[in-house]
Amino acid sequence: MTTNRGLEDIVAREISVLVPDAEKLEIGKSRVYFEANKEAVYLLNLWSRTIHRLLMVLGRERCKSLEDIYCFVSSLDFTGIIDRKQTFAVRAERSGKHKFSSPEIAATVGQAIIDSYLRDTGASLRVNLKFPDVEFMCYLVNDDFMITVNTTGESLHKRNYRVYNHPAALKATIASSLIMLSEWKTEEPFLDPMCGGGTIAIEAALIARNIAPGLFRKASFFFERLLPFDRDEYLKVRDEAERRANHGVYSITAIDISPRHLKGAHLNALSAGVHDTIRFIKGDARFLEKYMDIQPRVVVVNPPYGIKLTRMKHVPILYRDFLKSLKKVTERACLVVITAATRVFREACKEAEISIVERRLILHGALQTTVFKCVIG
Ligand SMILES: C[S@@+](CC[C@H](N)C(=O)[O-])C[C@H]1O[C@@H](n2cnc3c(N)ncnc32)[C@H](O)[C@@H]1O
Repeated sequence: MTTNRGLEDIVAREISVLVPDAEKLEIGKSRVYFEANKEAVYLLNLWSRTIHRLLMVLGRERCKSLEDIYCFVSSLDFTGIIDRKQTFAVRAERSGKHKFSSPEIAATVGQAIIDSYLRDTGASLRVNLKFPDVEFMCYLVNDDFMITVNTTGESLHKRNYRVYNHPAALKATIASSLIMLSEWKTEEPFLDPMCGGGTIAIEAALIARNIAPGLFRKASFFFERLLPFDRDEYLKVRDEAERRANHGVYSITAIDISPRHLKGAHLNALSAGVHDTIRFIKGDARFLEKYMDIQPRVVVVNPPYGIKLTRMKHVPILYRDFLKSLKKVTERACLVVITAATRVFREACKEAEISIVERRLILHGALQTTVFKCVIG
């Protein structure tokens, strides 16, 4: 499967919880590999909060040239994957030094699939690059070639509940990963003091209410078009997901200084069906003591970095005052922060005497950000 770079270990942990009999879990760059049965495809696409795409590996081989790739792919059997009336597309990515391009890999693999299918069935498969029924994804890293089939379709980070698009919105998969990193127990008070469009608080509410994010999906999953698809088995997993949601009461607070963003966050929460699980407050994170009547035990926040929303000079003051104010409202808490203003955050922690216990680099889109885990008290 694919995910955000830097969060692979969190994804691996999630997989081992959702699919306890998954075997041979192995962490790669933006990828986690494992072996599991067919039910895991339905389960993970519906339940995973951290995965982008779940890919089924069809074959892996050392390949140095396009000829090697052609020979390997054409030796595979595609008759159990794609029906003769279906169309397909091949996407390819490569890294390392090669005398050929990614589009050339895709074209070679496409021809090899057509030739293999023709040999095995007498039927000629058709290509549709825009709206294929089946999508093959190929990766070549140096001479390590892998062909997979996409069981997800569009990335799972698009949750479909977002009706208000905050200009600096966090990917829902990153938000969920940060909450998992905080080791939040859902009975503990949770706070996002600069919530923007509400992604972090909404993902927290979905976790607490045990709502499977895949249930928001409007388009079908790509696994529904693959030949091994078993509709009855999938409906069982889906019905079970619908049954498992709860209507418990949790303490999740989301604050933002901007009435516009706060209104957007509320609309997003409404669309996700968790507006009654989150307390939204228009407020200033530098003066939390004005709004907080309970001590937050877990704080997960994506403050402005000084790039898009706030002028750079305001950011150090904001970080410093926010951390000082946070210490006033809680004696003991875990704080997880994602920011591109790394140095500024470190300095603010030093000044507020907050210790950083973990630090990891992650890519958010094209932006290099740092995730800090801190302890207060
Ligand atoms: C990077 S955005 C958060 C995006 C959010 N994680 C999402 O997914 O939509 C930072 C937010 O901090 C808010 N903000 C800036 N200064 C603030 C302050 N002093 N108190 C509370 N919120 C503040 C901004 O209005 C903005 O919505």
